[in-house]
Amino acid sequence: MMQVNWLNFSVPQSFIWTIAIYPGLGSSPLGEPAADQEKLDPNTYFHENNLLSILTTLFMAGTDTTSSTIRWAITFMVLKPEIQKRVHDEIDKVIGSAVPRIDHRKDMPYTNAIIHETQRFANILPMNLPRETTRDVFFQGYNIPKPYKDLLFEAEVKAFVVFKGTYIIPLLESVLHDETQFEKPRSFYPEHFLDSEGQFVKRSAFMPFSAGRRVCVGETLAKMELFLFFTSLMQKFTFRPSPEINEFHAKRATGLAIPPISQKICCVSRI
Ligand code: HEM
Repeated sequence: MMQVNWLNFSVPQSFIWTIAIYPGLGSSPLGEPAADQEKLDPNTYFHENNLLSILTTLFMAGTDTTSSTIRWAITFMVLKPEIQKRVHDEIDKVIGSAVPRIDHRKDMPYTNAIIHETQRFANILPMNLPRETTRDVFFQGYNIPKPYKDLLFEAEVKAFVVFKGTYIIPLLESVLHDETQFEKPRSFYPEHFLDSEGQFVKRSAFMPFSAGRRVCVGETLAKMELFLFFTSLMQKFTFRPSPEINEFHAKRATGLAIPPISQKICCVSRI
């Protein structure tokens, strides 16, 4: 017998759905459309312009970043066939011909390390997002360049004052390529994220999503996407440089989220 699952209007189905239906939620079994006056008033949260603005931000922040990272991962696989082979072996062993699922990740330390090392080494948002301080901020123990010493109210330099309204560009490069944190910061070296037994290890300096209160809101989603897209592609293809190319490079292009330069590759089916 066919079973029909009717849409339950008292349970939000998605972000867009919630805004489109508001404020009828809970007030009627079918819900009611957003009150006309709310939809028309640009000063209300539920005005259509806000929905468009939020969705544009999510798409811009969420697509270029993930696709650039995947392009870097494929670039590194082309450049390092021996590493690509180990990823293929792990996929064959853990996933086989099944559709990759996020719970495969815990059993795939090598592939997980490759994705982390790709993000660390590629550093696609080297200048992060610019921010502005909303109040004076004190950084302990900083060495202050001479011209700024006059601004300090202690004779002995013990703190660095960042005044309210200062434009801040936190360089992610300073942590992702920090030689005190990573053995070979300027090389693609998956062992940065593996222990001596080959198990995945987290590193506190791994901050491609930034840190603190304004850390990337899409971090969890992005990590799932990267794993699923990368393993799905690697499950089906071996990546090689196109025969027309004399030398294959890992060079940076330009863009908001920096991808590698475009180069032709061959996707050889593994199935
Ligand atoms: C590889 C993938 C991604 C990387 C490397 C990345 C990285 C970042 C970084 C570094 C920031 C700045 C954080 C800060 O200012 O301290 C950021 C912000 C943001 N990200 Fe991502 N992101 C990725 C994927 C995503 C995805 C999939 C989404 C959503 C679907 C997303 C949504 C956002 C939004 C909305 C912001 C702005 C947050 C704010 O203004 O506070 N990101 N991301």
